[in-house]
Amino acid sequence: MPDRTHRQPATAAESLRYALAWQVDAGADEAIGERPVDRLAVAAEPAASRQEPAPAQPQRAAGPAYRPAPAAAPMRLESTGETVAAARESARSADTLDALHAAVAAFDGCALKKTAMNTVFADGAPEGGLMLIGEAPGAEEDRQGKPFVGASGQLLDKMLAAIDLGRANDAYITNIVFWRPPGNREPSVAETAVCRPFLERHIELKKPEILVFLGGPSAKTLLGRKEGITRLRGRWFDYRTPDMIETGADPIPAMPLFHPAYLLRSPLNKREAWRDLLAIREKLDALDRERPS
Ligand code: URA
Repeated sequence: MPDRTHRQPATAAESLRYALAWQVDAGADEAIGERPVDRLAVAAEPAASRQEPAPAQPQRAAGPAYRPAPAAAPMRLESTGETVAAARESARSADTLDALHAAVAAFDGCALKKTAMNTVFADGAPEGGLMLIGEAPGAEEDRQGKPFVGASGQLLDKMLAAIDLGRANDAYITNIVFWRPPGNREPSVAETAVCRPFLERHIELKKPEILVFLGGPSAKTLLGRKEGITRLRGRWFDYRTPDMIETGADPIPAMPLFHPAYLLRSPLNKREAWRDLLAIREKLDALDRERPS
């Protein structure tokens, strides 16, 4: 890491290291274009030529002509109708969690996949009663191909352990999108929409006794609510996928919970989270008691 004290950079190389560190701090921590962008060449272009797709550019000795990086921007909603239909068809054809994992890994309709290192499908116990759904993989999850393995995952494991649950036997974890958004931005509406048929099939195949939505984006996406997590957390909702509604399947009890990353930033809210965790434990115990032996 460069020494970022307030003195002026002594050399051009040091100045570049400062600029790079600043970009990483601001969240631009992935090289997501296929080629480096020569911003000076872009500035020198006549404005009109940039509106054309891949305009012929005068070649500069220093590097290739500028091409817009295809995956840098969030997917646009209008581009998703057919892709969502393809995702739904692919998801419906999966009859097991392994088949669904393979279908997600083979799906090329979500732009996030282009910039991610790995598909992050799920972790934990497929037979467990609890299914937790977070927002999106972060950098560590992208590297390892598993959800919640970074700092917030460590806190999540401690939260589960506090009510005597763990990934080995009881808890199964996934996210609303399967690829890391560049710079850890929130997944766009379009990215969430194309992943959603897989997520819904994931819930149908997993058949959890209880669902927990970690954080506002997960809760709002799956419950179709507009309130923030502070209003939604700690309440029980009946969750059904569209196919479950169509077939008259029983709803799954679902509770939104503060996201562990938020609790790391706002530890005072751990008190509410603890109350919610106890309610989840109680519900699991009650369902256990109701189950015919
Ligand atoms: N945050 C999430 O929402 N999901 C992960 O997998 C990791 C961090």
